[in-house]
Amino acid sequence: MRIDIISIFPEMFEAVLGESIVKRAREKKAVDIRLHDLRDFTRDKHRKVDDRPFGGGSGMVLCAQPLFDAVAKIKGKAKKAKVILLCPQGKTFDQATAKRLAKEKQLIFICGHYEGIDERVRENLADEEISIGDYVLTGGELPAMVVIDAVVRLLPGVLGDKNSLKFESFEGNLLEYPQYTRPADFRGFKTPAVLLSGNHQEIAVWREKEALKRTRQRRPDLLNNKKVNKEKVKNG
Ligand SMILES: C[S@@+](CC[C@H](N)C(=O)[O-])C[C@H]1O[C@@H](n2cnc3c(N)ncnc32)[C@H](O)[C@@H]1O
Repeated sequence: MRIDIISIFPEMFEAVLGESIVKRAREKKAVDIRLHDLRDFTRDKHRKVDDRPFGGGSGMVLCAQPLFDAVAKIKGKAKKAKVILLCPQGKTFDQATAKRLAKEKQLIFICGHYEGIDERVRENLADEEISIGDYVLTGGELPAMVVIDAVVRLLPGVLGDKNSLKFESFEGNLLEYPQYTRPADFRGFKTPAVLLSGNHQEIAVWREKEALKRTRQRRPDLLNNKKVNKEKVKNG
């Protein structure tokens, strides 16, 4: 997969995308991430990328021209790239969206800033708008990093053990079961005996029940989803 990021603060990304799983994915060439400074695409001699909003009001708005030019240059002949605008008014990001995006060949992220972006970018350049939650951040850089992290770890060969994806929260619309590690007794807080039993079948049953219990307690909305096995829910 190729990922292009358009931002006025491209330096913000390396600290996050240059570490851990995403770093390894880049080293393995599972993903090619390229950063683009929006100011390189302005035709303004002072490298200005924003202007005052028509009709008045506070703040500055990112202009359409540098964004349209940046996307055109990045896309080149590869017209299939999906252009994603990070935006608090977009569809809320979730694991299903991460999975869908992980199937794309190329993603281009547009990070807004200041008061926002000229509406014509939303209407005529972006293929979709993604929000990472109902709150307003200073810019689209952190949201882009959130989306990219969630997508890249789903790419084939990125996680060492495929099973870590299979049993994760939101898989099958359930939250993950509780996890414990050494020591078995920490300050009198004990690990459930079944996990120390070595009986893999009993452990699997316990985990399934715990995942259901936890989902019912914390996210009953997930259980309303058709994809959950209704029989399991009833018996869990
Ligand atoms: C300060 S915000 C602009 C908010 C805009 N004035 C509004 O009220 O909808 C600046 C930029 O941050 C990004 N941003 C802020 N909150 C976001 C969120 N929850 N999800 C995705 N992007 C967000 C967007 O790219 C946005 O253009």
